[in-house]
Amino acid sequence: MGETQLITGQVLWFEGSPFEAGLDAARHERRGAVAVADGRILAVGAEDDLAAAHPGAARHAYGEGLILPGFVDAHAHYPQTAIIASWGKRLIDWLNTYTFPEEMRFSDPAYAAEIAGRYLDLLLAHGTTTVASYCTIHPESVEAFFEAAARRNMRVAAGKTCMDRNAPEGLTDTAQSAYDDSRRLLERWHGTGRAEYVITPRFSPTSSPEQLSALGALWAEHPDCLMQTHLSEQTDEIAWVQSLFPEARDYLDTYEAHGLLGARGLYGHAIHLEPRERARLGEIGAGLIHCPTSNTFIGSGLFDLDGLMGTGAAIGLATDTGGGSSFSMLRTMASAYEIAHLRGRVLHPAELLWLATEGSARAMHMAGRVGTLAPGSEADLLVLDLASTPAIAQATLHAESLWGAVFPTIMMGDDRAIADVWVAGQRVAR
Ligand code: GUN
Ligand code: ZN
Repeated sequence: MGETQLITGQVLWFEGSPFEAGLDAARHERRGAVAVADGRILAVGAEDDLAAAHPGAARHAYGEGLILPGFVDAHAHYPQTAIIASWGKRLIDWLNTYTFPEEMRFSDPAYAAEIAGRYLDLLLAHGTTTVASYCTIHPESVEAFFEAAARRNMRVAAGKTCMDRNAPEGLTDTAQSAYDDSRRLLERWHGTGRAEYVITPRFSPTSSPEQLSALGALWAEHPDCLMQTHLSEQTDEIAWVQSLFPEARDYLDTYEAHGLLGARGLYGHAIHLEPRERARLGEIGAGLIHCPTSNTFIGSGLFDLDGLMGTGAAIGLATDTGGGSSFSMLRTMASAYEIAHLRGRVLHPAELLWLATEGSARAMHMAGRVGTLAPGSEADLLVLDLASTPAIAQATLHAESLWGAVFPTIMMGDDRAIADVWVAGQRVAR
């Protein structure tokens, strides 16, 4: 066995979901430690206990810093890094004005490599160690992303975005080429190191029924893969889907009828759902990915987190970079808090932190591997500075509990709050 490292500080972890078990699911050690060896977590608990059990371990002391699992972002578009925070458009205009022209640039492998590296470095700076990302229609964009992630030894899930209609020339494939390219990339990358391939039809408006069927067939041939797409984000989009698929019962049915509904499906947004869709997604145990900064930024609507949490669906949390306006899962938790509040539900900091770690990991079927500090899991962690700015520091002065001390960082924190990050048991050089 490799050298054991003892990472000490305050430690917060979960044994179960606070949505199911309440605050009893949360564990906090004020003088805590995480023992790590060979890229995995050996133990988590009180510093004194772990120091006694691992007397020869190398020490990394973070004092009052709060050690958490690395954040897990369950839906993002790395090719939209450079167009984040583009002004003034709703979904369809935003895609046509900003997104599609930028995605065209990824036919150039050098540009794809530059943005993939920039994006993953931004993620790590914000404490995110795992992401499910869309690429572009270009296989080069997928290669660039997985290569950049492998260099950083990050656990990532990604796939070639497939579109064979309603997108500009130069940004479309066909049903057959989408199947062939996706299959080749899947065979090359799925399970290579820490990479997972995700079958990725962008959304029903940009895929013909033939393309949806071809990707449904690919998923049936590789049922251990995730599948990611968008669902019911804006009302105009839903009306468009209705006109493109007149025979469909609802938006979800356009996926269901083509083999694209399953427990390993990640459905981004899922805001304006019909009762049948809610029931079906719950029955299947699908992943519903909440992208709160995107939903406010491009004017989509208010996700029904509380209503969907009990249905059987797995809820993940995500930035949706660059429809989302931030790379930060802290900012994303703040936005989730605000949206839930507008719907009459007050989310506890424990619930927010759980969603940003284990919640997303569960939706991505990576529970027990990432998003947790459980023994045996992969040693991806972050250290939060709970006083990273004068504004945050003064707000924590009166805090009487961990929750009071961490909530100002959730609401006001950014990359300055990320004191350190570890990936697969190695400290990330910053
Ligand atoms: N729907 C289809 N494509 C996209 C995208 O790139 N971003 C968002 N937010 N919604 C989409
Ligand atoms: Zn998206």
